[in-house]
Amino acid sequence: MTQPALSHDVSPEFASAVRAGLTHAPQKELPSMYLYDEVGSALFEVITALPEYGVTRAEERLLTQHAADIVAHVPHNAIVAELGSGSGRKTRRILEALCKKRPTTSTTYSPIEISRTALQLCRRELGDLERLSIVGYERDYLAGLAEVSKRRSRDEPLLVLFLGSTIGNFGRLAATRFLRDIRGMLLPGDALLLGTDLDKPVPVLISAYDDPIGVTAAFNLNLLARVNRELGGTFDLEAFEHVARFNPDARSVEMHLRAKRRVTAQVRAAQLNVTLEAGETIWTESSHKYRVNEIDAIADDAGFACRQQWVEQDWGFAESLLVAR
Ligand code: TRP
Repeated sequence: MTQPALSHDVSPEFASAVRAGLTHAPQKELPSMYLYDEVGSALFEVITALPEYGVTRAEERLLTQHAADIVAHVPHNAIVAELGSGSGRKTRRILEALCKKRPTTSTTYSPIEISRTALQLCRRELGDLERLSIVGYERDYLAGLAEVSKRRSRDEPLLVLFLGSTIGNFGRLAATRFLRDIRGMLLPGDALLLGTDLDKPVPVLISAYDDPIGVTAAFNLNLLARVNRELGGTFDLEAFEHVARFNPDARSVEMHLRAKRRVTAQVRAAQLNVTLEAGETIWTESSHKYRVNEIDAIADDAGFACRQQWVEQDWGFAESLLVAR
């Protein structure tokens, strides 16, 4: 068999994450952060436009309606940092409201993204805002936030945005731990605006994560395609299907890639040979759902006070403003 070509710049982190995940027993897994390459980021943009995926529109409605109210709680000279900027469309509402509050001086906005594509999209989307200077960081969330926090001066408070439902992609304990890590980089009075997708009926959740035209399936399968492209993998994508299932104990939607038959593959850059039995899955992501009144307790645990919440009832989404104690 001819060896597939390796792309020139193999990421050693990606290779070792794939090796660790695909040798993990009993459940094989792949880290969801690698879903967002150029193709994955573009597919996710399409997901946010699907009628079945109400998360993004619900949050957009909240931010459109309440941006002025939200920034009223934030000091006028705050620096804005965002964990995972995505396209920047939702952020625009907040930034416009903040810039309006300070008509003479400029506002600094620091998107933090491991996806270069997303950073570029966000620059394009927000580049036209007057009196906004964009200083992006191509880093993981905590490393990027440490950098932002280190560079600000003492009298500049921080507003950290953590929108969408990315917090839901952490397990519940890990979510609190992550908020605590964020808190560790903040000073008292700094704020965190946190988006959470709320509990809803299981069929609604399942179609949000397994849409009928297969965009979400393509988004998930692209992770294996990326392993093939970047790490010289030989996965036969036709042999896998996307599965979304509700885990009632965790109150999460779990996403998997399931082998339709016995599959063997090689991943050259990870020095790996892997076999999946028919029906075996690779777990790629979980999306945990929250109840509005849970957020207070988590915030408190992590060293924040929940100052105010805005809830979108049609879909079920909450935005919470947490202030570092
Ligand atoms: N943060 C998004 C969410 O939990 C990510 C997401 C949406 C996702 N659809 C997906 C992740 C499908 C994996 C597969 O809603």
